[in-house]
Amino acid sequence: MWLGTDKVFEAFTFIVEDTEWGTMQIHGYPYSDQGSTFIVEMAEDVWHRAGFDATEDRVFRPGENDDAAIARIGEIFAPYLGDSRILANNSQWITFTTVRNTSWVHRNLVLLGDAAHTAHFSIGSGTKLAMEDALSLAACLHENGDLGTALKVYEEERRPVVESTQRAAQASLEWFETIGTYREQEQVQFTFNLLTRSRRITFDNLRLRDADFADRVMRSFGASTGAGPETPAMFHPVTIGDLRLKNRIMVSPMDMYSAVDGMPNDFHVMHLGSKALGGAGLVMTEMVCVSADGRITPGCTGLYTDEQREGWRRVVDAVHAYSGAKIGLQLGHSGRKGSTKLMWEGIDDPLDDGNWEVMAPSALPYGPNSAVPREMTRADMDRVIGEFADAARRGADAGFDLLEFHAGHGYLISSFLSPIANTRTDEYGGSVENRLRFPLEVFDAVRSAWPADRPVSVRLSATDWVPDGNDIDDALEIARAFCDHGVDLVDVSTGQVAKHERPAFGRSYQTPYADRIRNEVAGPAGVKVVAVGAISSYDDVNSILLAGRADLCALGRAHLYDPQWTLHAAADQEYAGPGAEWPDQFRAGNRKPPSARTDAVRPRLALLREEESELPSHVRWTP
Ligand SMILES: Cc1cc2nc3c(=O)[nH]c(=O)nc-3n(C[C@H](O)[C@H](O)[C@H](O)COP(=O)(O)OP(=O)(O)OC[C@H]3O[C@@H](n4cnc5c(N)ncnc54)[C@H](O)[C@@H]3O)c2cc1C
Ligand SMILES: Cc1cc2nc3c(=O)[nH]c(=O)nc-3n(C[C@H](O)[C@H](O)[C@H](O)COP(=O)(O)O)c2cc1C
Repeated sequence: MWLGTDKVFEAFTFIVEDTEWGTMQIHGYPYSDQGSTFIVEMAEDVWHRAGFDATEDRVFRPGENDDAAIARIGEIFAPYLGDSRILANNSQWITFTTVRNTSWVHRNLVLLGDAAHTAHFSIGSGTKLAMEDALSLAACLHENGDLGTALKVYEEERRPVVESTQRAAQASLEWFETIGTYREQEQVQFTFNLLTRSRRITFDNLRLRDADFADRVMRSFGASTGAGPETPAMFHPVTIGDLRLKNRIMVSPMDMYSAVDGMPNDFHVMHLGSKALGGAGLVMTEMVCVSADGRITPGCTGLYTDEQREGWRRVVDAVHAYSGAKIGLQLGHSGRKGSTKLMWEGIDDPLDDGNWEVMAPSALPYGPNSAVPREMTRADMDRVIGEFADAARRGADAGFDLLEFHAGHGYLISSFLSPIANTRTDEYGGSVENRLRFPLEVFDAVRSAWPADRPVSVRLSATDWVPDGNDIDDALEIARAFCDHGVDLVDVSTGQVAKHERPAFGRSYQTPYADRIRNEVAGPAGVKVVAVGAISSYDDVNSILLAGRADLCALGRAHLYDPQWTLHAAADQEYAGPGAEWPDQFRAGNRKPPSARTDAVRPRLALLREEESELPSHVRWTP
């Protein structure tokens, strides 16, 4: 509800109030020396509980206000308002409308400002966008003789800027909608979280604007981990169960499709060995399959023979002998996505010959070209449980420090969890509780086969990115069940469950899911959370950790690009302390060669330029 007050706030003011009905907040800011804008906002469930829905069906004519609600708002926020009055102007409860248009131009008619687009008020961009539209339109009309071309160029120039702003506004809108999630956060962290909510502002960016506040954020983070305030967040140690990692970077599991008959070989020693030497605290294997039939492709590794166990022992021993990294085993079964070609020969396509029968909760193929799986019987389930437990025992024997149970990406366990793949009518299908039943039976067997003093992680797809699939609410329930069953870490990925998925890709696009799971479920249960997906800069990693969106960050492709990503991130941050030790053999190279060196300001300028580059040429800032 949009209101005003004759109280003049000193500056932009957020009031976050924990009421008996849930969290409510005020966005308050002075508009003159006479008064301030006073916006009251809350999530819909809080609004219902507080009884504000009493006027839901009433139509307020111009001049009328929801007086009863306004009186209650006055009572709830009385401690902040003192003697000041609330001012109303046709004030009533509204839901913010984000306007988007397929086209902004029709013949000689053109949309600009609010008519073309809106973005949630919490990022305060409406006037700026409207003014920039006008500037751009004027320039385009000036620069192009032909009206049609001018309008076309105008839309082409403005649309990417507007869509980028709308993405940031959407992130901010969702953050405020779930603000209650962060009610337990310590004050400095909460403030940092608030300031970086749209993901446009990062820690380094904020440090440029307010170095003192950045120092407070670092000190506050250090107070919980024991590392000094000069230590970048990514190099603070972290403990998962009884396992201590020297830093918070994980090499994400990546299938290399380079095994024969499931046997890891020299390639796997070199691949995982180089990642371990590269400085990450935790290096994960690819999805190691629990049976020959549970492989995705003929190139996948396994742990279904003792010979494979000895192959993995070589990898584990090499990592332990030559690096300070810990190594985790990801265990999985391909389910309906099995019996397919190597990634570079046709991902998800069935083999040309030598296909094996695949199985799944229901006889539904993954995609139009995929094999139709056999619906699993109870005997199949028992066999899979035994295979997972045997593989876990072999993994423990081979010396792995952590086990990750792969329950994401549409493979067997994930396909039981998702209503897209699981349409069973017995006790293993239907409700989330039923869909969890088999995954938890397998998980329990793995947990008992795995040493009690070594941690277990679970990888989830927190959304299927399709309308009828799992979404965050299901993911919260699923994560809660795994926490109850003794998981130590939740690795939050998304998708790959349905071939027709429509993921909202973008920088760190899966992190909001990790954030919700960490702050609503895992954190309170003492379970750590990994964020993953399009995270590639140390600044994004530090920002995610400092804001409390995750406890660790996993990087996949960035490590294929640069196996020494972590050591290079340390050098770029001019940090050489604990958690960032170079191997003795490499120490001579621990600084960037002069030709590659950028001065300390460069990455920050790059960030500013990233924002600037969205502006049209005639308003672009030049250093
Ligand atoms: C209460 C409130 C507070 C806001 N606070 C902020 C803020 O702090 N910061 C910020 O950046 N943005 C803020 N905004 C958003 C900002 O005001 C709008 O994004 C911005 O004004 C959009 O500019 P515009 O020119 O597109 O539309 P408008 O400013 O709405 O201008 C449209 C004009 O067209 C006129 N009009 C409509 N129909 C006709 C017609 N048929 N014939 C002739 N004229 C017509 C209207 O009277 C109006 O003057 C706020 C909005 C509201 C409602
Ligand atoms: C080549 C390749 C193989 C992958 N194999 C696996 C795998 O075996 N198990 C898994 O859970 N994820 C796998 N992934 C997904 C990654 O672990 C990670 O979640 C994903 O790449 C997104 O992170 P990124 O943007 O940092 O690369 C793979 C990704 C790539 C690029």
